[in-house]
Amino acid sequence: MATGRSAVHVSPGGEAGNDEARALVLRYLRGEARADPYPLLHRIRSAGPVWLGDGVLVLSSHEQCAAALRSGEPARDGARACPHAPVRLRRLLDRALDGPTLAGLAPVARSVVDDRLDSVAARGRLEVVSDLAHPVPMAVLSRLLGLPAGDAPWLHRRLRTLGGAYDSVLTGAADAASEAERRRAETDVEAYLAEVVRGRRDRPGDDLLSRLTGADRGGGRLTDAAAASAGRLLLVAGYETTAALVSGSVLALLRAPHEGDALRRDPGHARRLVEETLRVDPPLQVVRRRAGTDLELCGVRVPRGTEMVLLLAAAHRDPDRTAHPDVFAPADAPPHMAFGAGAHLCPGAPPARLIAQTVLVRFAQRVTGARFARGTPSYRRSAALRGLRALWVDAEGIAARDLPWPQPDTEDARHPSMPLFPAEERKP
Ligand code: HEM
Repeated sequence: MATGRSAVHVSPGGEAGNDEARALVLRYLRGEARADPYPLLHRIRSAGPVWLGDGVLVLSSHEQCAAALRSGEPARDGARACPHAPVRLRRLLDRALDGPTLAGLAPVARSVVDDRLDSVAARGRLEVVSDLAHPVPMAVLSRLLGLPAGDAPWLHRRLRTLGGAYDSVLTGAADAASEAERRRAETDVEAYLAEVVRGRRDRPGDDLLSRLTGADRGGGRLTDAAAASAGRLLLVAGYETTAALVSGSVLALLRAPHEGDALRRDPGHARRLVEETLRVDPPLQVVRRRAGTDLELCGVRVPRGTEMVLLLAAAHRDPDRTAHPDVFAPADAPPHMAFGAGAHLCPGAPPARLIAQTVLVRFAQRVTGARFARGTPSYRRSAALRGLRALWVDAEGIAARDLPWPQPDTEDARHPSMPLFPAEERKP
């Protein structure tokens, strides 16, 4: 067992519970319903809270997951692929991922989307995951941290490995070989970032690592090791999740072509499309919490020390919250917890939204007559980090990049936390 007691023990036993519900949860966590996990998640939620054994409680209703996110503590031990920022770093990150930073990232996202569409224009077919979903977050995160563009392929391989390890943290199912591979990837990325940070001491730049190491206003200065670690946290937490959101959003668009028409009429619609994708198909489907004290969560008694596995993907489709939970309805877009809630709410939500909205807007504008090219979309092995493996699209044409970028509508201007384009870029 690679991850110790913090992992979900898949052997039955421990507390009394519903054997059938427990079997359903284990099927879900083992990724046995990857193509469409939602019918299974409905059954799990209908069964109510499930004790797996060894003090592990699975919650899946909206009310209970929301309460646990806010009152539980991060499950830290063994959770290295499950990111949590210490309080001091968290304050620095919130300041660092603010409006002006986003304003600087928007042109990077736009130009890489256009470059990638140019590169596939001649063949009239694209594979969304490798042509857009990975390159755009990689370019944006690299710009954020000041990493050379040429390092992207090296970094991509390691971040894929680290993203793929998230499930093993939940299930404890990692074999020795994959655990060794995960550790190697983690060590590589940390050593790489440590070297970048050392370079920044002599030549500070306009990037987050320089700001973190020199950030002595209020929050204090981070040591080189802490800055490198923070960089790894951002890359691991932000890369695969955002790639999954991008490909999931494009998939949603292909499945509902009328939404593409709405998007072409109103680029501000990208915000609603992305939010609804986050609700119906959240990239991070599962998070963990630990009860630091005895808790009472919406009628469930949770003794201190209990590990809680929160099935956000089930909570988002809770019929007690939404009349038609399985219907993709961007116009209504009920609220979701895809970025968590409470003290650990994802600080990377603004750049993730910016990236996904930018891709959608440009895809709808430039890729004409887009349709599924072949087969059904396939998903990666992971249950907790839900991302497409490949998504082939045929296009009648890919328009030239000199089309003007659309300006956001007024509704977006009223939602600064969900920017299509950061406020600084908006025309009056
Ligand atoms: C669609 C993309 C993303 C999704 C779905 C996502 C989801 C989440 C969720 C659910 C949490 C809370 C985990 C918990 O409560 O246990 C979280 C935390 C976090 N995310 Fe994201 N995230 C995304 C993108 C990003 C990006 C782009 C970054 C960095 C630039 C980032 C950095 C972080 C960090 C540092 C934390 C830990 C926060 C803390 O512990 O206070 N995430 N994310």
